[in-house]
Amino acid sequence: AQDKRESLYVLNQWASKFFKEQLWETDLGRSIGLSYFLERGYREDIIKKFDLGYSPEAWNGLTDRAQEEGFSKEYLVDIGLAIEKDDKSIYDRFRGRVIFPIHNLTGRVIGFGGRTLKTEKTVPKYVNSPESEIYHKSNVLYGLHLAKKAIMDHDVCYLVEGYADVLSCHQAGVENVVSSSGTSLTSGQIKLISRYTKQVVILYDGDAAGIKASLRGTDMLLEEGLNVKVLLFPDGNDPDSYIQKFGASAFHEYLKNNQEDFVFYKTNILLKDTKGDPIKRAEVIREVVQSIALIPDEIKVSVYIKQCSGLLDIEERVLLTELNKIRLDKA
Ligand code: UTP
Ligand code: MN
Ligand code: MN
Ligand code: MN
Ligand code: MN
Repeated sequence: AQDKRESLYVLNQWASKFFKEQLWETDLGRSIGLSYFLERGYREDIIKKFDLGYSPEAWNGLTDRAQEEGFSKEYLVDIGLAIEKDDKSIYDRFRGRVIFPIHNLTGRVIGFGGRTLKTEKTVPKYVNSPESEIYHKSNVLYGLHLAKKAIMDHDVCYLVEGYADVLSCHQAGVENVVSSSGTSLTSGQIKLISRYTKQVVILYDGDAAGIKASLRGTDMLLEEGLNVKVLLFPDGNDPDSYIQKFGASAFHEYLKNNQEDFVFYKTNILLKDTKGDPIKRAEVIREVVQSIALIPDEIKVSVYIKQCSGLLDIEERVLLTELNKIRLDKA
């Protein structure tokens, strides 16, 4: 089993090299893939740093070459680079896409994300490697191998939604950044972050999905004892589009001035929806206290209770009663 895992790593490493050669050394790769990245505003050093690549628009571009090189059909399918048809023949999973290799903590390639170059809404924007013996999505944060040191140095981790956001942050000089790749945070990912820092800032997309995601999964961060702040980007932007539109220094300013404590952020967002309805307000109060109740640090809990009593315009005593009720229910 150990041998097989090692072989799968080697196969992925080979595939990553294949995709890179396609991007840099073929006419189609350069004119389609490389120009796509350059037109999006990524510098060549960033494209290289993240080992970005291109998968040719062919049914068996990678699979034929891999088999010529001696890699087995079975492993190509197991690792998800190939898809098997009913007649047992195989074809490339990644076709005509730009490729983002996904690395583990030690920098080995464990999977890939491939972005379409088409604008039609009918094709999925990203195709990703499936789970495999070496790729467990729920325990991976994209970009962590390049971010570890910066996260420890700055003692804070920025959490973004997507691959492109990580790239642009690095390009803007912000390297303490990881992506959960569009899925909501898992406890495995949170434990990974908390090895390096207790400070997390969520930089999700400024759209409805991003706001929803910022409220989901975040309670788990509080439970883990992390200090959580949130910052959303204006007008539906994500960190990538913000940086590409407004530049690195505007991004640094925005980062510095717009972080909001998660508990207050959540309180304010929920309050906005109540429009003064007393039943909805009571619901919000309960939800906020539920989040506060997850925080392991008693001093922080009492600070939050005090401040939220102001935000919610309700006596501290009422919040404390609710807090104790929630704790009793859980005990
Ligand atoms: P977004 O829809 O915000 O895409 O999804 P993006 O990262 O801004 O992509 P660009 O800028 O258009 O290239 C956030 C992340 O969710 C995952 C990807 O990891 C993506 O980066 N995702 C999204 C998928 O896995 N599949 C999809 O079809 C869409
Ligand atoms: Mn495993
Ligand atoms: Mn999004
Ligand atoms: Mn996005
Ligand atoms: Mn984007």
